[in-house]
Amino acid sequence: MTSLDDRATAPRTPAPGAAAYLPGFGNHHVTEAVPGALPAGRNSPQRAPHGLYAEQVSGTAFTTPRHDNRRTWVYRIRPSAKHPRFHRADARTLLSSPVANPAPDPNRLRWSPFPLPAEPLSFVESLFTLAGAGDVRMQSGVAIHLYLATRSMEREYFVDNDGELLVVPQAGRLRVATELGVIDLEPGEVAVLPRGIRFRVEVPDGTARGYVLENYGHHFRLPELGPIGANGLANSRDFLTPVAAYEDLDEDVVVHQKHLGNLWTADYDHSPLDVVGWHGDYAPYKYDLRRFMVLGTTSFDHPDPSIFTVLTSPSDTPGTANADFVVFAPRWLVGEDTFRPPWFHRNVMSEFMGLLWGAYDAKAEGFQPGGASLHGCFASHGPDRATYEQASTAALAPHKVEDAMAFMFETRLPVVPTVQAMTAAHLQPDYDDVWQGIQRAFRHPL
Ligand SMILES: [Fe+2]
Repeated sequence: MTSLDDRATAPRTPAPGAAAYLPGFGNHHVTEAVPGALPAGRNSPQRAPHGLYAEQVSGTAFTTPRHDNRRTWVYRIRPSAKHPRFHRADARTLLSSPVANPAPDPNRLRWSPFPLPAEPLSFVESLFTLAGAGDVRMQSGVAIHLYLATRSMEREYFVDNDGELLVVPQAGRLRVATELGVIDLEPGEVAVLPRGIRFRVEVPDGTARGYVLENYGHHFRLPELGPIGANGLANSRDFLTPVAAYEDLDEDVVVHQKHLGNLWTADYDHSPLDVVGWHGDYAPYKYDLRRFMVLGTTSFDHPDPSIFTVLTSPSDTPGTANADFVVFAPRWLVGEDTFRPPWFHRNVMSEFMGLLWGAYDAKAEGFQPGGASLHGCFASHGPDRATYEQASTAALAPHKVEDAMAFMFETRLPVVPTVQAMTAAHLQPDYDDVWQGIQRAFRHPL
């Protein structure tokens, strides 16, 4: 794995075959794969350069306030309107909210790593929905998916009209070729693919496993920093958007479209990734979690885990997120007279956690890389018995939590596990046992 020091975030000459990027979160980027593809001084000239077609992609309402407005002008070989009818297709294990589950389980849930599929599956085919919240038809809530891809998508594309996709690789690299450029991803990095943008996913290592948060709500943005000041957490300059790249492919291909929870497919006679140049601020991007500037206590106790928020999808209620993406990255623990792992707690927000590598500091065992846990609305949880006993008696020297990377998807909406997740072979039936050995220590003072 490439070390942090090897990673440049400024534009640079990429290695042969590697993707190239433009830095900055939410920037208005200007990029062309062929010189002169972008018209000068206007968006829609009578004839666009090089015989290209101009097209606007509006990721927000036309009249959204400027600080939240997202739109991109693309200049492409054919207008995206040139396609035949879509026909209903089998969505397999890809589900949407509201999740059809007549009796959502209130128990604490944990899954072992997603098992290898028996057949070759693409990224899209392998999407397995674990849980959902809200309602895709109301553009509110999320769905939580796992993927375990065992083949690349070739002449095959996907577009999700229902939500933007936060892709969190856990094992194996991905190459995501989108309408707006190519993103290379490895475990430790995450990507956000905007809704309505076509892409395909290659699996350079043969297999790739990870997590996907499908965000039906407001597009992700950086959290407010308040008293923290102007710097810290995920810094804007570390977000990378790909430069323009296109496929000039006049061959039969397949395009899958997710629309209001269903999958639809159409046969195109060309690649939809034919954007030669674009400018705007509605675009995919990636971020390396190892660049997250972790803040925490330098005295006692530790802050709520909201201090670890990488990206947030706000709801209409200030401070109450449709979805937060939170990372538990390597960090020093120095709190004096402090129980340092995450404390016991209950939370009105639902918490889904995954582990990319290492061991999470609240669970001594059982929470495995590639696995997952779901602690729903007010489900009691916290350190397991072994962790509690160790952390409540340990000498409190400064200690670095290293070699582990965990994350959380958190939402204000109740998260409903899918029936397929509740009957999956990798659901751990004995998760409650991690707290059963905890003994009472209270003795009434004489
Ligand atoms: Fe929690």
